[in-house]
Amino acid sequence: MYLGIDLGTSGLRALMTDAAGRPVASAEAQYCVQTPHPGWSEQDPGDWITALDRAMDQLRDTPGYGQICGIAVAGHMHGAVLLDGADQVLRPCILWNDTRSAAEAAELDATAQVRDLSGNIVFPGFTAPKLLWVQRHEPEIFANTAKVLLPAAYLNLHLTGRHVADMSDSAGTSWLDVGARDWSEPLLRAGRMRRDQMPDLVEGCEPGGTLRPELAARWGFGKDVTVAGGAGDNAAAACGTGVMAPGQGFVSLGTSGVVLTARDGFHPDPATAVHTFCHAIPERWYQMGVMLSATDCLNWLGRITGRSPADLTAGLGDQLRPPGEVTFLPYLSGERTPHNSASLRGGFQGLSVATTPEDMARAVMEGVCYGLRDCLAALRSTGAELDSCLVIGGGSRSPYWVKLLATVLDLPLHLPQGGEFGAALGAARLARLAVTGEDPAEVLTAPQIARTVTPDAALRDGFDAAYATFRQRVSDMI
Ligand code: XUL
Repeated sequence: MYLGIDLGTSGLRALMTDAAGRPVASAEAQYCVQTPHPGWSEQDPGDWITALDRAMDQLRDTPGYGQICGIAVAGHMHGAVLLDGADQVLRPCILWNDTRSAAEAAELDATAQVRDLSGNIVFPGFTAPKLLWVQRHEPEIFANTAKVLLPAAYLNLHLTGRHVADMSDSAGTSWLDVGARDWSEPLLRAGRMRRDQMPDLVEGCEPGGTLRPELAARWGFGKDVTVAGGAGDNAAAACGTGVMAPGQGFVSLGTSGVVLTARDGFHPDPATAVHTFCHAIPERWYQMGVMLSATDCLNWLGRITGRSPADLTAGLGDQLRPPGEVTFLPYLSGERTPHNSASLRGGFQGLSVATTPEDMARAVMEGVCYGLRDCLAALRSTGAELDSCLVIGGGSRSPYWVKLLATVLDLPLHLPQGGEFGAALGAARLARLAVTGEDPAEVLTAPQIARTVTPDAALRDGFDAAYATFRQRVSDMI
């Protein structure tokens, strides 16, 4: 039996699988994000531990629970957990969607060698600029920082007592030489950090440590439970969906939007604002375009109109309509790919007295698809090839949105059959690999496809033209 833990932004999900990787049971516990100032986004790492305990309590009576022999954590990426010499948390974790360190990010990004070694733009959400911000604004905390851990690595520490992180998550720090898969002295120097403040590195599918005896006893497990290196959430989702080789990929229509594909070599192209990170298995990398607000845009419209997203979009039916009169720019949280701007903001255009909340919802869905098309175009410009891909995430439950996305991207989209294929399953698969040493290609397989949604040929030209107008509006704004 294996346990995959998905440490998400709004909650933790623990998934148990049997020895053959079949999901057996799952449990969830929620926590909050604190926003003490505009643009800040923080979490108390203690809340993750409480959530894990609550999830384990829920799983305790599942048959086979006592035979869990491998655990892995997939975490929301880029967050900074600062620890003192006794591993005590010094301040709340600064999260991936916190933009306070935009100035520090720009500074680091302009430093010689930084893009070359890290393979990426230093985005404000990444880890290194957060530490420069702490050095400037909280110098005492900075001086007391003995270790900096990503969220998943902090759970690894809790589980094993070891400071250990995997390559895929560490690639999002701007301290890792992503091509060489090791901490980089020049990058650490640029970020005013030292190697002894970093955790040890392992591949995501390798053992990272053994579950601490106190936890094994408390949870009712045997003595030798292996904890794998784990992964950043997107690499874990790639493991859960079997995205391992060039030509394979997924679009995630989640809180944030992602277009991701696997690469068998390191092909960075920071200028495109594509992210190039290590995969969770050796000698593989993946690339993705990231938009910071995807389904989050529809949730926002729901909040301000007092309607649920499902209610706002119910009237659309399943039949795709031509582009609407209203255009929406989906930059409620700034944007990463392709614009790299924390200050970019959203907007509606083309409103009239006749515009209804439903029209605005349709515009939001279209705007999110145009943002994802920007991500796909950026990915392709690095040489990545993608002729079809999976579609996952909460938004993929809307048949209208998926048809619209397939048409805007001009890409057939495969909907996986119901069940598990996300980050928690990816983590459980990494746990299995760390225990058995099996060939990753045997374990990280693709899900069954329920159906493939193809672009609507009759509406493609219309959406191409609407996308060109969208691009023009964005460039007028920048
Ligand atoms: C990726 C990113 C997000 C977070 C939160 O670069 O910032 O996808 O991992 O899920």
